[in-house]
Amino acid sequence: MDPLRRPLIAGNWKMNAGGSDGCDLAIAVARATTDFADADVIVAPPFTAIAAVTNELYNKKSDVAVAAQNLHWEESGAFTGEVSAAMLRVAGATWAIIGHSERRQLFHETDDAVAKKIAAANAAGLKPIVCVGETLSEREAGETLAVVERQVQAAIVELGRAGGEGVIAYEPVWAIGTGKVASPEDAQAVHAAIRQVLADANAELALTTRILYGGSVKANNAEGLFGQRDIDGALVGGAALEVEGFAKIVEIAAKLARQGKTG
Ligand code: 13P
Repeated sequence: MDPLRRPLIAGNWKMNAGGSDGCDLAIAVARATTDFADADVIVAPPFTAIAAVTNELYNKKSDVAVAAQNLHWEESGAFTGEVSAAMLRVAGATWAIIGHSERRQLFHETDDAVAKKIAAANAAGLKPIVCVGETLSEREAGETLAVVERQVQAAIVELGRAGGEGVIAYEPVWAIGTGKVASPEDAQAVHAAIRQVLADANAELALTTRILYGGSVKANNAEGLFGQRDIDGALVGGAALEVEGFAKIVEIAAKLARQGKTG
């Protein structure tokens, strides 16, 4: 972590906790993380729980923010089953996860679709969390940096429009839900390469953009990851459904941020 940037911990609930259980989880997360003011916290419930979760957090005066897990790039119209960025903003979300590897792989989202979604998020006032990452076969073929750099390049114009508010999440596909976390050094190397792509486009953007690591982040491996200079937090999947472990990850990030500030 670099004291220039506030750490950010985002919990991607995926297809879980989409009803009143989502409200319970959000309130429990808000309570458990309230003392860790040096880190920003986001929860990303399914679409069905966004409005209710936002309301609950607002009523409890919580700083925990809400992200959507996806959106459609069109504003409205005949797109059965889709949800627009503007609708998500009205529902209370202030962030949107875009281009998650599960969407790229299972729902065939292309780099082009990801760029259109970031543009739609920007237009609606949602801050994008843009996911990038290589598959196991790409890693084994030595293509990690080429793949990740291509994905960042495809998003860079729209990330530039989001300014320092946009976030990138590096999630190696082979580390998601597998318990196989990237080593802090391997993750740092990719984060540094991502920051270099940003720097080549815009030095200020490179300094301000937070780059999160995602893929089997747990309380017991967070400290090593967050100790790396270009890792500004985490996008957490499975462990985000478990309040104590998630709060511990936030606590570790806040502690390191405080230490960084005081030198
Ligand atoms: P896990 O933390 O379950 O590996 O999931 C990571 C992820 O995909 C977050 O978006």
